[in-house]
Amino acid sequence: MRKHNFSPGPATLPDVVFQQAAAALLDFNQSGLSVAEISHRAPEFTAIIEEATSLVRELYQLPDYFEVLWLPGGASSQLAVAPMNLLGANDYMAIVDTGFWAQRSIDAAKEVAQVHVLAPSGDTKNNRIPKNWTLPANAKYLHVVSNETIEGLQYHQYPDVAIPLVADMTSDFLSKPLDMDRFGIIFASAQKNFGIAGITCVLVNTKVLPENTGRVIPTIWNYRTHIEHQSLYHTVPTFPVYVALLMLRWIKEQGGLLEMQRRSEAKAQLIYDEIDRNPLFVGIAAKEDRSVLNACFRGISPEIDEQFLAYLTENKVVGIKGYHVVGGFRASMYNGMPLESVAYLVELMKNFKPQS
Ligand SMILES: Cc1ncc(COP(=O)(O)O)c(C=O)c1O
Repeated sequence: MRKHNFSPGPATLPDVVFQQAAAALLDFNQSGLSVAEISHRAPEFTAIIEEATSLVRELYQLPDYFEVLWLPGGASSQLAVAPMNLLGANDYMAIVDTGFWAQRSIDAAKEVAQVHVLAPSGDTKNNRIPKNWTLPANAKYLHVVSNETIEGLQYHQYPDVAIPLVADMTSDFLSKPLDMDRFGIIFASAQKNFGIAGITCVLVNTKVLPENTGRVIPTIWNYRTHIEHQSLYHTVPTFPVYVALLMLRWIKEQGGLLEMQRRSEAKAQLIYDEIDRNPLFVGIAAKEDRSVLNACFRGISPEIDEQFLAYLTENKVVGIKGYHVVGGFRASMYNGMPLESVAYLVELMKNFKPQS
């Protein structure tokens, strides 16, 4: 029997996607070959990557001046690669310090350019999104972590600024429609909302990508290299791209991004209603900034946390322990997480009887 996997990533995918991926790993479209042994330059793979790209375009209704890139590795690399492509070494970006992944982005960007950190003192750190800040005039773009996976914080409205947004959407990519013109770059690892570990999808607004920032960008890190070669400058991780294609088809069949948004909101409402109702638990993030993808909560004592975790494990719920700096629990509910699993978790929260 499959477990209920609330892992923050790599995360669960729909059964049908795992089944299709498993079948293609053995025999791709009755070709007598595994999908994993097809050349990244073969026509079969070209068809896969082109369909995946056109589905991302269709789902987001991307204007044609956006490019879709499939790059190896995780979003962590983009924390340095995005500023390297957008800024000269003495240029500034600004970033709202929303939590763990904002801090990682600050550290990575400081290695290649200049950074204004926007998080005025007085804002309670890491349980809400700081909103009272002033954008310095010399910032070329504003980096946002659209969903802070560890603290369970999400922008429900992006900051209203006149410069482009560069968004780390690793934990909420393809979970709702977006107004694309506000963004310069969007990037997301596949392993949460649309696939397995190994690749990152990067959307590049070519109107925002500078021709020349005055720095030498190593060829392999230059977005223009990958735009020119349509992500095939080097061997893209082919199987993860295939799984992303299966997920993109699934998302489209289910009704697209509005339907993903409706489902995410329904799952979030179910669990947050229980967190707020149940006297044994408290929510961690400020209500107005709660993430619909990662619901963070804790028991009212360390003993409750310990007992509830054991109870969940007995009942086949896994991947739900909070990140150690936050503690408690984190229920991650990406596109592949069925509402039924969230309802099951809520039933366990209702039925849980701590021993004194
Ligand atoms: C918001 C966010 N950004 C970046 C990353 C880094 O992704 P990766 O581990 O795939 O490099 C993660 C991973 O969990 C994340 O949640």
